[in-house]
Amino acid sequence: MAEDTEFDAKTVSDDVAAGIEQIEQASDMEQLKAIKTRYAGADSVMTKVSRLIGSLPVDRKKDAGQLMGKLRADFGRAFGEKVTRIKALNEARALAAQTVDMTLPVRRKPLGARHPIAKVMEDVEDLFVSMGWQVSQGPEVETEWYDFDALNFGPDHPARQMQDTFYVKGSQAKDAAGFVGSNMVLRTQTSSDQVRALLSRGVPLYIVSPGRVFRTDELDATHTPVFHQCEALAVDKNLTMADLKGVLDRLAVAMFGPEAKSRLRPSYFPFTEPSAELDLWFPDKKGGPGWIEWGGCGMVNPNVLKSAGIDPDQYTGFAFGVGVERTLLLRHDINDMHDLVEGDVRFSKQFVMGE
Ligand code: DAH
Repeated sequence: MAEDTEFDAKTVSDDVAAGIEQIEQASDMEQLKAIKTRYAGADSVMTKVSRLIGSLPVDRKKDAGQLMGKLRADFGRAFGEKVTRIKALNEARALAAQTVDMTLPVRRKPLGARHPIAKVMEDVEDLFVSMGWQVSQGPEVETEWYDFDALNFGPDHPARQMQDTFYVKGSQAKDAAGFVGSNMVLRTQTSSDQVRALLSRGVPLYIVSPGRVFRTDELDATHTPVFHQCEALAVDKNLTMADLKGVLDRLAVAMFGPEAKSRLRPSYFPFTEPSAELDLWFPDKKGGPGWIEWGGCGMVNPNVLKSAGIDPDQYTGFAFGVGVERTLLLRHDINDMHDLVEGDVRFSKQFVMGE
């Protein structure tokens, strides 16, 4: 090793060569910096030997100077090149870490599903629109007049007790038809849209009116206080029960398959005369081959037409209402109403296929 007093070309050349060798081996900037300090820093052989040049005899100064210049340059070049390489490597690593692998499977966001109730109502709308009918939607908070009076429920008519009504506190309404002072209710039936539509759209009228209705029932396996109905109303000249039956069969087929059929059984509703229970038959039905009750229907009671200012001697009409939940319970053999009410997406996905 060169001492302060001696300029030893071999020692300093070997030392710098060892330093360059180490630079080659280094794998990060930390190591590189340490090597630089050791082989080119203030206490390095190269620095110490350089200091000796001044005291060398003149004839040796030039060679010594050139040698040291070359060694410093070699070391500096090796160092610089390595810095460049390590930086490039670091950058490549960082880029690789950020790279998006387009071949990885996508993490899909679950999209949810349409609720089967909405789907049934939409399917009913589609069917009726395809037959040239209109879709009508009345309000859920309705005057008692449209929900009962206009539909021929007399003030003390026992039929009012057929449906347990939510009254909306303190509201006295002036409705579209100008009836002041009628109580407000949460409509108990989509039939409440019948006279509304007759008054606002006139005759001839062909409407389907799907929507939410309310009754003071407790939620249990077969009841829910909030449920859905699809109402249909046709008022025109010369309509008969045969027209009603034809439409009901079309609806049964659309909802329950090509072999499904409807049957009418005499019954009573204040707003229809004659009135009938609407029974349904379809082949895949669980729980036996019999007929099952699906809804109510009938020929529009002349008093309802009169409520809308329509002359019952000129016009006749038919109407029916089916429960949307009931349609689903029957069609899919669902045993618990809770499943329809809770809105669990795993449940909905089973019924609203491909949507
Ligand atoms: N609104 C009746 C109900 O909620 C169902 C109904 C029966 C509707 C006969 C009708 C009908 O249009 O004609 O129970």
